[in-house]
Amino acid sequence: MEFSIKPGSPEKQRSGCVVVGVFDGGKLSDAAQALDKAAKHALSDIIARGDMKGQAASTLLLHNVANLPCERVLLLGLGKRAELNAKRFQDAIRAAMRVLQGTGAKDATLYVTELPVAQHDGAWCMAQAVLVAHETTYRFDRMKSKPEKKNIPLSKIYFGVLDSKHSASLQTALTQAAAIAHGVQLAKDLGNLPGNVCTPSYLAQQAVALAKTHKSLKATVLEEKDMQKLGMGSLLSVTHGSDEPAKLITLEYRGGDKKQKPIVLVGKGITFDSGGISLKPGLDMDEMKYDMCGAASVLGTLQAIAEMGLTLNVVGIIPTCENMPGGSATKPGDIVTSMSGQTIEILNTDAEGRLILCDALTFAAKFEPDTVVDIATLTGACVIALGHVASGLYSNQDKLAKELLEAGDYAHDRAWHMPLWDDYQPQLDSNFADMQNIGGRAGGSITAACFLARFTKDYRWAHLDIAGTAWKSGKEKGATGRPVPLLTQFLIGRAGK
Ligand code: BES
Ligand code: MN
Ligand code: ZN
Repeated sequence: MEFSIKPGSPEKQRSGCVVVGVFDGGKLSDAAQALDKAAKHALSDIIARGDMKGQAASTLLLHNVANLPCERVLLLGLGKRAELNAKRFQDAIRAAMRVLQGTGAKDATLYVTELPVAQHDGAWCMAQAVLVAHETTYRFDRMKSKPEKKNIPLSKIYFGVLDSKHSASLQTALTQAAAIAHGVQLAKDLGNLPGNVCTPSYLAQQAVALAKTHKSLKATVLEEKDMQKLGMGSLLSVTHGSDEPAKLITLEYRGGDKKQKPIVLVGKGITFDSGGISLKPGLDMDEMKYDMCGAASVLGTLQAIAEMGLTLNVVGIIPTCENMPGGSATKPGDIVTSMSGQTIEILNTDAEGRLILCDALTFAAKFEPDTVVDIATLTGACVIALGHVASGLYSNQDKLAKELLEAGDYAHDRAWHMPLWDDYQPQLDSNFADMQNIGGRAGGSITAACFLARFTKDYRWAHLDIAGTAWKSGKEKGATGRPVPLLTQFLIGRAGK
């Protein structure tokens, strides 16, 4: 799908379909009014007859409207003008995209930048429309022997702007939105691939391939023997039961000044989490192929910023391995020494994410980071707390938390600030080592974050628990590509400073 900005009024568009908004009660948007006038009130007549009431996300497709050069007009219901928010807008665009894909239209012209979405401007509307359009056309059929060929003629989307001199900021927003959409797509593809294809070695190959495509990226892959030399006893304890070799991937993007300290993104890359000796129950265990979605979001975000050419320095770090049972697997009660020197009593081998992250977080300090953000499908408890809407956000600095929350709000890829108070720390006390790797059932997402906090004292740090947001279960099972939009927006904000 191609996207571009097209100045000019809607009644002049020789488009396959012109899409305009209608509010509750049949009130026409500005673009719809212009069409209606040129069409000698054909639209208001239809509305008067009661065929389109402007209900949120309703649609009415019209053909051969008199006096209009376009082949079709799609009236898009937006609900009450005062209630048009980000979610309503997205739902409406989703509905429009579904209708458009069912028509023979080769291109469509959307008049969305003029819409009064609460707290957002035209550039935002356009960017969101680009993301939604990608979302509705996404298919994962790589593993099908005969991919279903769906012939959708729609290949171009224009954003109609009434103002003939559209701003450069609109163009920037369009370029950035496309890059974010491609990053989301990469993250989804990696997430959806099965564990027997998307192994730690496969993730490493992907990072190397990304660095080949974008010369602003540099990939380095450390092997188990290198990790041993670094003293990563905690990370290595997780891979003991697996036949697949663990990898530690570093992907460096240097778009900023040489002296500028980098932002480091650390993504959990468990390519399959069986639980290890503390084996998970069988139901839905297949979904643990998604336990590398943090890693996928780091790759997606780095691809997005490389495509945009952001002026800042970012380092992606991906600790990746499988968590499997086996004769040499780590056992409950085993004690390991992390790269930081702190010892950990592993009471549950299924709490493995924190074990690979803690060593990666210690390793991150080598890059003298300005800020470190880790992203992980870390706890089932986070899903209980926040469901599938918000990611859990923890930070050792409130200012950083606020920055990430705001980036998430803007990108509509939201997070919720959770407590990281010392009061929770005693839950991790161990009788035999410096700490244990689980803190009991109470506050499970919080104690996981508290565990990580013990390894991030030397820098500004935030942790995103994406266990509830990285993929969908059930009939719509599939990766979401979150939180690539949040992370990329955060980095765009940093580059702008
Ligand atoms: N990858 C899982 C977390 C998870 C579980 C994400 C279900 C999404 C859905 C993680 O490694 C894990 O197993 N966590 C345990 C921790 C517990 C043993 C303290 C969990 O949440 O049950
Ligand atoms: Mn686990
Ligand atoms: Zn896990």
